[in-house]
Amino acid sequence: MADTRFLLNDRQISTTQPRGLLVLDYLRHHERQTGTKEGCKEGDCGACTVLIGELDGAELDVIRYRPVTSCLMPVGELEGRHLVTIEGLNLPELTPVQQAIVDQGASQCGFCTPGIVVSLTGLLMQEGTKVDRTKVKHALSGHLCRCTGYRSLKAAGDIAADTVGERTGVESLVADGRLPAFFLDAPAQLRQIHAETAAEADGDAFDATSEEIGPGVVIAGGTDIYVQQGEDVPDAKVAVLNKTSELRQAMRGIERRNGHLRIGALTTFEEFAEHPEVRKRIPDIADYMYLIASWQIRNRATLGGNVVNASPIGDMTVLLLALGSELVLRRGDAQRTVPMNAFYQGYKRFDKTPDEILISILIPELDATTRVGWEKVSKRKCLDIATVNCAARIRAEGGRFVEVGLAVGGVAPIPLELKATNDFLRGQPIDRSVVECALAVAQTEITPISDVRGSADYKRLLTCQLMIALLTGMFPEHLTAAEFLGPASRSSPPAPDVGAGRA
Ligand SMILES: Cc1cc2nc3c(=O)[nH]c(=O)nc-3n(C[C@H](O)[C@H](O)[C@H](O)COP(=O)(O)OP(=O)(O)OC[C@H]3O[C@@H](n4cnc5c(N)ncnc54)[C@H](O)[C@@H]3O)c2cc1C
Ligand code: FES
Ligand code: FES
Repeated sequence: MADTRFLLNDRQISTTQPRGLLVLDYLRHHERQTGTKEGCKEGDCGACTVLIGELDGAELDVIRYRPVTSCLMPVGELEGRHLVTIEGLNLPELTPVQQAIVDQGASQCGFCTPGIVVSLTGLLMQEGTKVDRTKVKHALSGHLCRCTGYRSLKAAGDIAADTVGERTGVESLVADGRLPAFFLDAPAQLRQIHAETAAEADGDAFDATSEEIGPGVVIAGGTDIYVQQGEDVPDAKVAVLNKTSELRQAMRGIERRNGHLRIGALTTFEEFAEHPEVRKRIPDIADYMYLIASWQIRNRATLGGNVVNASPIGDMTVLLLALGSELVLRRGDAQRTVPMNAFYQGYKRFDKTPDEILISILIPELDATTRVGWEKVSKRKCLDIATVNCAARIRAEGGRFVEVGLAVGGVAPIPLELKATNDFLRGQPIDRSVVECALAVAQTEITPISDVRGSADYKRLLTCQLMIALLTGMFPEHLTAAEFLGPASRSSPPAPDVGAGRA
């Protein structure tokens, strides 16, 4: 097996450890770097947070660093990247983040502290303007600390951000003695690794487009597969999609092509939300992100993984479904396109053979007047999966619904396109009575079950509430939330004759 070559803090590493081995286990057991803590090993606590730096920019002359949970990342994906641990951030004096944590008394047992220092430092390493309080809160949303409380941690984050001011970014932090100097050499070292690895022609590369894919475990971001099969993956034959370079190129990036927005399946949630083409079409996308997983997970979780994991409550899945997306699947040279609303066939059953890879997702071009919305309710605000989620793509003209794509998650065995509801709404005026009728149609389409996330009745109620929140939020000129507060609206409205329509 070819070595995996990468940079660990200030050292070049070449390892023959299995590609599916967790970075966390590699660090603690093979490098004895035990500052990176093992807590939940499921991406929930943030104790294992490290920074991953990847060459970026037109000339590949800078490295972009992002915090990730090392307990859900395969060693194989470190190839040509910079892995930075808490040990790598240390200086002779305390860094601004460490000093602020000490000053605020924000570390008691200390188990969570290394991960928090890494995330907050990662935030200061982002190029750009001064870090504000919202960003600090977002950076901390992937961390649990059970002994000191979050107020002192948030205060420490704010103080560290104030200390650094506008001198964020790697170069400024190094120049100001707030980050070790080895960071400045890292781009050149990674370029050298890339050049040498390319020259060596990796004979062991897993060709994910070949027949070989069948018996292997396919890993994209790893945030589902390691939670579900974490014990088995390190010993299995793995296809690290983010490593197989030719395939990876086809699976990355966002571009407008042939009337679609083409999203590479390996696009992470954060990359999706940051992209100008996505922001143009879904202006609130950054707000949605705060309700999805955590910064560390969103830096790993891919859109393709969300779709293929086939959870009925996948947050990106329900959005892509509402957008009328299509999926491009490839096996060897054969490629086919499947409409997303025909992909799911039952609980975790879908129209894909084990050896097919989801290459990209095609979102139809949205007309400038098309509005997009998304809602989610979960048991806690951050770092929790949905009880029910809901998304809509709607074009209206002259006060009437023209094109409607509503989808809902958590109320059926599959992520559900509300076909009958969409058909009913098309051509109808946008008013309260129509929406009340649409709620009744939606109730005939969903089949929620009671489980730990809520009773079936509660999920039925949530479906109504989220649809109202969506539609009043998307069409404030026609609908207000107050109109729906009356007692009549939440009891079951009479189901309309769907076939007849109103207008
Ligand atoms: C702490 C935590 C919080 C989370 N919170 C949320 C949340 O709020 N909302 C949400 O929707 N999800 C959440 N998730 C779930 C997860 O992050 C998402 O489902 C994510 O999109 C999975 O993508 P991945 O790239 O990590 O998939 P992986 O784990 O790599 O793969 C998932 C499955 O899909 C297959 N696969 C992946 N990519 C491809 C491909 N291109 N072609 C063929 N097969 C493929 C894999 O073989 C595997 O079976 C959370 C997970 C964790 C650990
Ligand atoms: S050990 Fe808890 S997030 Fe990794
Ligand atoms: S200081 Fe103990 S868990 Fe955070």
